[in-house]
Formats: sequence, C-alpha cells, structure tokens
Amino acid sequence: MRTQVAIIGAGPSGLLLGQLLHNAGIDNVILERQTADYVLGRIRAGVLEQGMIDLLRQAGVSQRMDAEGQVHDGFELALDGRRVHIDLKGLTGGKSVMVYGQTEVTRDLMAARTAAGAQTLYSASHVQPHDMKTDAPYITFEKNGETWRLDCDYIAGCDGFHGVARQSIPSEVLKVFERVYPFGWLGVLADTPPVNDELVYAKHKRGFALCSQRSATRSRYYLQVPADEKAQDWSDQRFWDELKTRLPAELSERLVTGPSIEKSIAPLRSFVVEPMQFGRLFLVGDAAHIVPPTGAKGLNLAASDVSTLFKILLKVYTEGRTDLLERYSEVCLRRIWKAERFSWWMTSMLHRFADSDEFSQRITDSELAYFIDSEAGRTTIAENYVGLPYETIE
Ligand code: APR
Ligand code: PHB
Repeated sequence: MRTQVAIIGAGPSGLLLGQLLHNAGIDNVILERQTADYVLGRIRAGVLEQGMIDLLRQAGVSQRMDAEGQVHDGFELALDGRRVHIDLKGLTGGKSVMVYGQTEVTRDLMAARTAAGAQTLYSASHVQPHDMKTDAPYITFEKNGETWRLDCDYIAGCDGFHGVARQSIPSEVLKVFERVYPFGWLGVLADTPPVNDELVYAKHKRGFALCSQRSATRSRYYLQVPADEKAQDWSDQRFWDELKTRLPAELSERLVTGPSIEKSIAPLRSFVVEPMQFGRLFLVGDAAHIVPPTGAKGLNLAASDVSTLFKILLKVYTEGRTDLLERYSEVCLRRIWKAERFSWWMTSMLHRFADSDEFSQRITDSELAYFIDSEAGRTTIAENYVGLPYETIE
C-alpha cells in the first residue's frame, strides 16, 4: 500500500488532519488500533475555541456543530460561595466558545470521512513507523492476522499520549517536561438539565468542582478526588452529595440529580515533549502534550497542531516548500507552552493541594482575588480561555 500522508490514530487529531488533507487532494490513510465504536465510546472534553470552530468549518464538518452546539459568551468562577462572572465576549472584543462534545466532533469527522471515501483501517495492531529519517518512511501493521506495509511521504503521529509514534523516536532525541498532580477528576455524565446556563468552575476547601454540560438536557460534572480514588467507590448519591457541598447554596439548591450514564476518573498531568518532529514523523495533539483539563485546552491544542501541520503540508505539496517542515515543532510549541501555562495556572488557583502550607494558600487566594477583582486580570483569564491566535505560516 502507498499513500502521501500516513496518519496513526483516529482521534480528533488524526480525523481532522485527514479530512483537511483529503479536501485539499492530498491522499492519506488512517491506522487506528481500536474499533470505531470504541473510539466513539470515550467521553472527553467539550469546549471548542474559535480557532477550532473555524477549522471544523474549513474542513466542511461543522453542520451539526453549528446547529446543535451552544455558544457560551462567559463562564463563572465560584470561590467559596462567591460567584464571579467572566464575561468572555465583553473582555475579548466579541470572542466566545462553543460547547459541543469531543465525542460528537469525532462522530461528525468519522461520518465525513466515510462519505468522502477516505480510508481508515480500524483494529490495526502492532503499528510501527520505520525509516523516519529517510525520504522513504513506511509503517508496518497487522490486520486480520496479516502483516501489511504502508509506504508514504510523511507520517503524522496522532495516536494520543500512550501511542507508538512518540515511543518510536529515540529517547535521547526527546526532552520531556512533566508535572503529575496529586489528584484526579471524577466525572459524571447525566441526562439532567445543567445547573447553570454557563459553566461553573468552583473552588472549595474540600476541593475543586466543575459544572459543565453537553446540551439542554445533558450535564457533565466533575469533582477533584485524590489520585488513588476508585470510581466504583462513588455511588451516584455520594457524587451528588459531594458536588452539592462544593457549590454555592443557590446552585446546589437547584441542582437536578439523576442516574449517571458514565462515571470515570482521569488523572491530571502537564506534559510536553520537544521537539515534536523526527525526520518525516510529526507528533500531533496528545501524542506530544497533555494539559490538565482545568483550562479546557487539550482538544483545542490538538486542533492548532493540526492546523499548523496542514498549512505546512499544503505548501509542501502545492509550492514545494519543504523548508517549512523544520518549522512545525517551534511554531506549535510557542502556542502549546502558553496553553500549558494557563492550564497549570487555572489548576493551581482552583484546586486544593493537600501539602500546601498556610502561607502558600493565602498567597494563592490573594493571587486569585487580585485577578478577579481587576478588569486586567479578568481580561487575561478570558483571553486565554477563548484561545490565543494561530500563527500564520509564510
Ligand atoms: N496504533 C494505532 N492507533 C493508536 C495507537 C497505536 N499504537 N495508540 C493509540 N492509538 C489511537 C487511540 O486508540 C486513539 O483513538 O490514537 C487515537 C488518539 O486519540 P486521542 O487520545 O483522542 O488523541 P488526539 O486525537 O490527539 O485528541 C486530542 O486532546 O486533551 C485531549 O480530550 C482530548 O482526546 C483529546 C485530545
Ligand atoms: C467538559 O465539559 O468535559 C469540560 C469542560 C470544561 C473543562 C473541562 C472539561 O475545563
């Protein structure tokens, strides 16, 4: 088999890159370890920045998002009972975010890929890139008990944090930056109306809580829990009781509870690998970086990497600009590190750190108070939350 761009992973990164390339007439094949149903069963984030919204429109996959996604012009911070509104639109000169689940983005991208007749090979095992430092890279994999070889010009490693792409780069070439937080988020999805029209990020002495949503009838809530906590130890009742404790009274009084349709714990981590390129292999999205979810940046960073790689590959194929390939990593990393900083900051400000001394807690509280009591501070939060601009590639 031969293609122009071989893509490993059919998450949002791989599917979006594949769609943009396909629309531009650049042939690509996606190799995915799981089945399509398995990929669609994962419940992930749900806040899209303007840059990602524009990219989905450019890819021609925005029809359902534009019809069903909810535009949010602001969000709330709840600080030990006090509610503060962050007016995203007012503070950023008219920018907002779209609440539309990653699962739905993935579903739309899969449907568009099927309609376009572009190839995705699901249940592909033992995927292994080779000869990335040469002009003729290729991938070997197994499917239906047979071994296959896919020759290509370039390889996009869109295979997430646990994927093979990053692991196939010699470790001495990569520098890893990492921070693991001593807690996770316990998430619950429920078919109940959201407690508030905007998202609520709540800081409380028992720990952080987030009220998010997927639609007018579906809510997504999270609680900060210790890293070693088990989801099965949390009955629905225990979850709702704890959430009510952490929310301001007027919100907990109107919280509608119901049976959970998904409940899971995700660890919190900051992670970046440099560089994001090894010869003709490019790392995209979670394969290269992880942010804690507090800033809603993970999916959006994947989209900005996709945008950068797509713009470069388009110029490579249409204008012969192979010089741009070497710029991929530095362009991506400039934006990634800013989002890493914001995600780390939001996490540090809003969570309870068990080992933090009283002086540090007062400093954190006063830093947060300074930010929310000043328009400059709120503007900084808003500008980062709606997403920093994408760089142009000339
Ligand atoms: N071979 C083939 N496919 C693989 C392999 C492998 N060795 N390893 C992983 N994959 C697949 C996974 O099964 C998954 O479907 O790669 C895909 C990676 O998808 P994601 O983990 O969703 O990563 P990405 O597409 O970069 O999505 C961006 O940002 O913060 C997050 O929640 C956000 O998941 C989202 C991510
Ligand atoms: C979500 O809806 O899953 C969500 C929203 C905002 C975040 C994180 C997760 O910051």
